[in-house]
Amino acid sequence: MGKIAVYPGSFDPVTNGHCDVVRRGLRLFDKVIVAIARNGTKDPLFTVEERLEMLRSTFKDVPNVEVDSFDGLLVGYVVKRQADAILRGLRAVSDFEYEFQMALMNRKLNKHIQTVFLMTGLRWIFISSSIIKEAAQFGGDIRGMVPEIVFEKLRDKFPSLRPEA
Ligand code: PNS
Repeated sequence: MGKIAVYPGSFDPVTNGHCDVVRRGLRLFDKVIVAIARNGTKDPLFTVEERLEMLRSTFKDVPNVEVDSFDGLLVGYVVKRQADAILRGLRAVSDFEYEFQMALMNRKLNKHIQTVFLMTGLRWIFISSSIIKEAAQFGGDIRGMVPEIVFEKLRDKFPSLRPEA
């Protein structure tokens, strides 16, 4: 069996930055499982089912990517899926403290599981799900920063994103 990475997150919604991390991850791992934490974000814009649908559609033509969700501890899910590592993307120094804390906590919870960080491409360095949602909410044109299906779903939520508005 090849090497498997779990790429966990809230993905509320998935951005092109996330997609970039998945693509980079596939150069190191035979399979990447993109996993939404069901108990993650407190007040999400999209339901877990909507997020699963957007992720599945985004990666439908990418071999070796599976989309799933999990409850409870990430390390428990990693063991259950017999994965080899946790994959996380790093943008800037500002991500580091949170990622460092999370990686060390996960290691404390299960010392056999490694966390691998990959740098996103420079063009995505400023993108996060929250900043996308904020821009979209006020009608900012975020096309090209998220997969097309995400743009459409955001347009359904925020009428000011409609071209005719
Ligand atoms: O995209 P996010 O919101 O930064 O992802 C955070 C996530 C979902 C990876 C993290 O909150 C998580 O792993 N949640 C599952 C619960 C868990 O295992 N917590 C302890 C690890 S710090």
